[in-house]
Amino acid sequence: MKLLYLAALCCLGSTSALAQTDEQVEAILQQMTLNEKIAVIHAQSKFSSAGVPRLGIPTFWTDDGPHGVRPDVLWDEWEQAGCTNDSCVAFPALTCLAASWNTDVARRYGQALGEEARYRGKDMLLGPGVNINRTPLNGRNFEYMGEDPYLAGALCVPYIEGLQSQGVSACVKHFALNNDEENRHTVNVVVGDRALREIYLPAFESAVKQGHTWGVMGAYNLYHNQHNCHNEWLLCSLLKGEWAFDGVLVSDWGGTHDTEEAVRNGLDMEFGSWTDGLTMGATNAYDRYYLAEPYKQMLRDGRYTEQELDEKVRRVLRLFLRTTLREGRPAGSMCSDEHYEVARQVAHEGIVLLRNERGKDTQALLPIDESNLHRMAAQHGRERARVLVVGENAIKMMTVGGGSSSLKVQHEVSPLSGLQERLRDVADVAYERGYVGDVTGDYNGVSTGQDLTDSRRAEQLVADAVRQAADADVVVFVGGLNKSDFQDCEGHDRKDYGLPYGQDSVIVALAATGTPVVVVNISGNAVAMPWADRVGAIVQAWYLGSEAGTAIASVLTGDVNPSGHLPFTWFAELTDVPAHLMQAYPGTWRESEQIIDEQYTEGIYVGYRWADLSKSRRAEVLRAVGSTAKATAAQPLYAFGHGLSYTAFRLSGARAQSNRTSDGTMTFYVTVTNTGSRSGAETVQLYVHDVQSSVPRPEKELKAFAKVHLDAGESREVALSIDRRALSYWDEQAGEWTAEPGRFEAQIGTASDNISARVPFILE
Ligand code: BGC
Repeated sequence: MKLLYLAALCCLGSTSALAQTDEQVEAILQQMTLNEKIAVIHAQSKFSSAGVPRLGIPTFWTDDGPHGVRPDVLWDEWEQAGCTNDSCVAFPALTCLAASWNTDVARRYGQALGEEARYRGKDMLLGPGVNINRTPLNGRNFEYMGEDPYLAGALCVPYIEGLQSQGVSACVKHFALNNDEENRHTVNVVVGDRALREIYLPAFESAVKQGHTWGVMGAYNLYHNQHNCHNEWLLCSLLKGEWAFDGVLVSDWGGTHDTEEAVRNGLDMEFGSWTDGLTMGATNAYDRYYLAEPYKQMLRDGRYTEQELDEKVRRVLRLFLRTTLREGRPAGSMCSDEHYEVARQVAHEGIVLLRNERGKDTQALLPIDESNLHRMAAQHGRERARVLVVGENAIKMMTVGGGSSSLKVQHEVSPLSGLQERLRDVADVAYERGYVGDVTGDYNGVSTGQDLTDSRRAEQLVADAVRQAADADVVVFVGGLNKSDFQDCEGHDRKDYGLPYGQDSVIVALAATGTPVVVVNISGNAVAMPWADRVGAIVQAWYLGSEAGTAIASVLTGDVNPSGHLPFTWFAELTDVPAHLMQAYPGTWRESEQIIDEQYTEGIYVGYRWADLSKSRRAEVLRAVGSTAKATAAQPLYAFGHGLSYTAFRLSGARAQSNRTSDGTMTFYVTVTNTGSRSGAETVQLYVHDVQSSVPRPEKELKAFAKVHLDAGESREVALSIDRRALSYWDEQAGEWTAEPGRFEAQIGTASDNISARVPFILE
């Protein structure tokens, strides 16, 4: 039987690869029976769909995603399969990749992940996630790439290319408007077209048009009162129409709700319906899937011809030709030295130094390198320095938990062991717990084997830490969030902006000892830091995966010079976040339909686009949307794009290739000089401001960036290019992108609040 299919492939004599693929698709399609067609458009197990055995087309395997290949589950259960060969390398979660602002690193990340997926026999990796960070309470922000559509788009493209170079399909998720987790199945997002086009869709658009992703995953929530896994406008008009997406639209697991809508509105592969754990219902129910027997019955009843079915099957076959049927597909590799190296590199590039103050002796607290530690020890008349590490996140495994992205790793270096290993020859490293958070060691059946129980009462834990801190040269507090429910975890949002488990009081008590304190915050979200100006240094360390401890130690000791920049605005208070200020979260219950309407009242003013506005402009926006909230001049604790280094950089000589453009394309140049005494990397960020506009525009919008590595004293000129789209806004009346002629300004700097040059130009 296999011969039938092979014969079909052999008699092709087409010109372009695309035409050839289309011919191959038609040749296979013609040989498929109705049952075979139905079989390939829905799941046959938790993570696989059937191929066409009669034609030699193998089973198609998907797996999460997005920062490591998930361990195998049983065929029909969420339970672990208990394999002993599915431990992976955990790469840093995607907020860290976004914070790296490094497209080369993103490509290497995607490729390494693709190699791991291939080795494990997976054909589609369920990622990357590119939903916009609209509220820091969103439990899944750690899986996404921050608040800026351009940054998320620019980094997901090389990740997708790297992944797909291995013959493994990406599945960009969750399309679209899945910006919070609470009530994710029943939230109907109400958002204006401008915000939709300018903020929430561009990263998906880049993934499709530039990244050429072969898969997109529909989101659980609703838009225009229709579930997004079969949303007519999103999938048919936009994704497959306007954007000409030629891949498959996969449902999120349990995100399909209606056969007719699924048939008509662009769903190509249905997964996870009636799977225990996500939606209630019978197990082993694959024949009952909306796109299985119920669809077949409608075909038999003549409600549909095979036209819609063939359109879905064509897309699925194209996916097979790109993956399972691809000749010479790489075999992949797992847990290789190179993969650990990639994991370390992403972490090195993404860790963000938020604060690094100088002490009385004018020496910055970080890095705690050999000379700094010797100096600290000498001040106390000691030979060896004493470093006290405090906090549960210094010892807790963080590659598990968080929901579907939970991993089973071959190894994970904790921050405590990373520091102990690195400082072995120069300092005594002691540990104190400080607080007890969540001691669970079991996530989705993966057991960490850690026993984190501690019977001391909270006051005792603080007192013990304080006693040791008073006698130390430096305290490294490693805390933050974790991946337990209601933290950085799928299914729910955080309940509070503040740190959990009483960590604020621990930090304040440690700082009160007078010993310098470094706070290493592990999270995928901003948190309130009411103690920020009481500690010497703050490092944002994300979920860094297998090499977490090694990477953190490298940055703290200065072996690696930090170069990450925030991919979101770090608001001081939750009420400074526009969605919360305007009470536009989590929405209003619509009793009759059991739906929650969530109005994105803040429109385009998400993150820095809001923080950049003056108090009077904020008041105008509030008035325009009918909000009674009071405008304040509150500035973020740390701005979008912020990130410090152990060296210093200067930008100079910013210029444009010309001060006019007729088609909107422009190139700008700026020289970056490392004026400090050690090598490091700086990210030059280019924002566009429309000076003369008929509609309100943000003060600035990121449209280009470049990361440059420079030795001490070295200079380099960087070129940054933009196109017409970078000057455009979405015209709601005309329904199109519009770049209005007139005056513009390129703002070039190293953070959204650190602009060193403004270059005016004119669009003719
Ligand atoms: C998540 C997806 C994930 C899928 C499969 C869903 O609950 O929303 O992101 O890929 O499960 O595990």
